Amino acid sequence: MIETVSPPTIPFRLRLLMRGFLFAAPFVLIGGVMWGGFRVWPLLSAQPAGPYSQSGLAPTTSLPDVNPENPDGYKLFQFHCANCHGAHGDGVGLAGLTPRARYFGYDKFKFVSTTNAAKTGGGMPTDDDIHGVLRRGIAGSPMPSFGHLPESQLRALAAQVRKFVRVEVIVARLKDIVKAKAMLSDEGFEEKSDWSPAALDKMRLMATKEVEAGLSFELPTPFPQSTPEAVARGKLVFEKAACVSCHGANGLGDGPQSKDAKFLNENGTKAVPRDLTAGLFKGGDSPHHIYLRVFLGIPGTPMPMSGLTVSQSDLIDLVHFVKSLDR
Ligand code: HEC
Ligand code: HEC
Repeated sequence: MIETVSPPTIPFRLRLLMRGFLFAAPFVLIGGVMWGGFRVWPLLSAQPAGPYSQSGLAPTTSLPDVNPENPDGYKLFQFHCANCHGAHGDGVGLAGLTPRARYFGYDKFKFVSTTNAAKTGGGMPTDDDIHGVLRRGIAGSPMPSFGHLPESQLRALAAQVRKFVRVEVIVARLKDIVKAKAMLSDEGFEEKSDWSPAALDKMRLMATKEVEAGLSFELPTPFPQSTPEAVARGKLVFEKAACVSCHGANGLGDGPQSKDAKFLNENGTKAVPRDLTAGLFKGGDSPHHIYLRVFLGIPGTPMPMSGLTVSQSDLIDLVHFVKSLDR
C-alpha cells in the first residue's frame, strides 16, 4: 500500500497572521523611513551646537547660566560668535560671509586706536576698541551689535578675542609678506635663507610686540565744533591729501585708483573706497572715530594712514568735511 502523505497544512491562524504581516509590511517600512528621517534631518541641518543650545541658535538673548560676576568668555564666544568667526576665531564659521568674519590675528584689526600699526602694518586694538566694535556692531557688514549684553559679558568677550590672537598666527602672516616680497624681487624666494632661524626669531619678536596693544594716542578733546569755514578748509585738505584719488572729488568712492584692477585688500579681495556721502562709518560715526580712521588708516585695506603727514588742525578740518558729505 502506498501511503499518500498530504502536504502539511498551515494552521488557519498562522496563515491569517502571515497575511497580516504581509499587508502591514509596506506601511511599517514607509513609516520607519519617515520616522528615521524626521529624527535624522534636524541633526543634519543643524548648526554646530554651542554649549547651551541644540541648534546653535540662541534661544534667548542672554545665556541662562552665565556667572554674572565672572562670565566665561570662551563659552560666550562659542554661543554668540562661533557660527560666523569659527570655534577658534579663525574665520571658518558655518556662515559663508562677504566680507568674511574676521580671522583674529591673521587678518588685521581694522578699527583700532593704537599706534603700533606702523611696524607690521597691522593694528592691534585696545580692549576698549574691541568692546566698542561689539557694542556698535559693524554697520554695513554682517557683524551684529551685541549692545544688549551686560557689560561684564562684553568685557569677557573682548578678552577672549584677544586670546585668539596668537603669536604664531602673526608669524604666519609675516612669512606670507616676506614670501610675497621675495617672489616679486629679482632674488626670488629661497626657503632656507629667507626663513633662517635668525629671520624667524626677528619675526617672532615683531609678532610678540604686536600682540600687545600699543599706546593709544591723544585725541583732540573736546573735538572742535564744525563751522562752514572748517568744512571749506577740509575740502582743500581732502584734495591736497590725495583722498580724492580713491574717494573721488565728491567723495562718492569713485576716484581713479578705485578703477584699478589691482586695487585690493591684503587678503586679495577687491577693495572699495567708501562712498562718503552714504553715511556708512564702519568704525563708528562720531568725529573721534572718523579722526582715528583718517589718522591710522584702516589696516588690511588700502585706506592709508595720514596722521604722520597731515597736521592735526588739517585732520580736524578733514573730519568736518567728511561729516558734511553725509547726506
Ligand atoms: C553674523 C555673523 C557674525 C557674528 C554672529 C559675529 N561676527 Fe564679528 N564679524 C563678522 C564679520 C563679517 C566681520 C568683518 C566685518 C568687516 O570687515 O566689515 C566681523 C568682525 C569682527 C571683529 C573685527 C573688528 C575690527 O576691528 O576689525 C571683531 C573684534 C568681532 N567681529 C568680534 C565678534 C564677537 C566677539 C562676536 C560674538 C560676540 C562676533 N564678532 C559675532 C561677523 C560676525
Ligand atoms: C588708496 C586709497 C584711499 C585713499 C588715498 C584714502 N582712502 Fe579712505 N578708504 C579707502 C578704502 C578702500 C576704504 C574702505 C575700507 C574698508 O572698510 O574696507 C576707505 C574708508 C574710508 C572711510 C570710512 C571709515 C569707516 O569707519 O568706515 C573714511 C571716513 C575715509 N576713508 C576717509 C578718507 C580720507 C579723509 C582720506 C584722505 C586723507 C582717505 N580716506 C584716503 C581708500 C582710500
